[in-house]
Amino acid sequence: MNANPTTTPDREQVHSTESVRTARERSTVLEQQITADPSRFRVLTGERPTGALHLGHLIATLDNRVRLQAQGVEIFLIVADYQVITDRDVAGDLPAVVREVLLDYLAAGIDPEATTIFTHSAVPALNQLLLPFLSLVTVSELERNPTVKAETAAAEKRGRRGMSGLMFTYPVHQAADILFCHANLVPVGQDQLPHLEISRTIARRFNNRHAADQPYFPEPDALIVPTPTILGNDGAKMSKSAGNALEIRASEDDTVRFVKRAKTDSERHITYEPDRRPEIANLLTIGAHFARTTPEALAEEVGAAGAGRLKQVVTEALVEGLRPMRARRAEAAERGPEYLRAILARGNQRANEIANRTLEDVLKLMQMRY
Ligand code: TRP
Repeated sequence: MNANPTTTPDREQVHSTESVRTARERSTVLEQQITADPSRFRVLTGERPTGALHLGHLIATLDNRVRLQAQGVEIFLIVADYQVITDRDVAGDLPAVVREVLLDYLAAGIDPEATTIFTHSAVPALNQLLLPFLSLVTVSELERNPTVKAETAAAEKRGRRGMSGLMFTYPVHQAADILFCHANLVPVGQDQLPHLEISRTIARRFNNRHAADQPYFPEPDALIVPTPTILGNDGAKMSKSAGNALEIRASEDDTVRFVKRAKTDSERHITYEPDRRPEIANLLTIGAHFARTTPEALAEEVGAAGAGRLKQVVTEALVEGLRPMRARRAEAAERGPEYLRAILARGNQRANEIANRTLEDVLKLMQMRY
């Protein structure tokens, strides 16, 4: 691991190639096991509510969750509100953002009857697990976490000074997110691998120290889904802050405009070459995702017809693909804020029941029940 503090590793490249390769290989095996018996798995995943979700989230994570849900895997989705204040002082209009994120989940096809959606702030027992878990890691282990370093450096670029205690320890808090419900599968991007390693370490050490006879926590596995980074229409990585994103909630007009404005290059013949032609490759990836084909096949199909034709094909696939999502979103929004509040209340209640039980078990194992 690169521990040189003078270089800022890119958020995507922070983990060593070796561990990424291992996680990839393991993910292939896990996929086979999921297909064979989905009931063996409980998934915990989620995100920080920092804004409405966009095409990058949809292609890289949301569609995969919907796929796992359809396969019959039990899913817990955390809206990680306490994590928002790791790299900023205040969280902004959280009620509005959480509402948009919930609508995006529903739009993407998350079924609130099957999937448990909850927030950090509503589950006290989850947060209390942070205390024993902090005792299981050393300061130098936390200092080595490359993702925390990269995120701190990014926040410093925006003018934020220093690293808060919450930023420093949030990977431990994230272990509580995962372990409170005994999740054993965590679909994540590569940047989250160091955190997952901390979760595994915490589970293992807890078992060794406090549950030697019978392991209490599972060591959760990362499920890496091989999706390329989605770029915005300026050719940089799609992100809300870069202002280059197509949000899931965007109108059909916005969708058409997004593709129209997307950067291309001066070569006429369309080929899929992600390294040499990233903007064309990005359009092919987006188009192929929605047309349920591969970027290579789509490139072949468009070929000599050029970027104009490519944009036409991508626009059609995208508009078609987003239409049912837009309809589901509108339907959910029409039911009013009470509907969303009820979904969250149900999820929070379920998460609390489980978290209370886990905390009780943990306290018993630690001889703290008198
Ligand atoms: N840190 C994750 C992100 O920024 C969000 C998150 C919070 C998470 N808790 C988690 C992801 C637990 C997986 C498991 O995207």
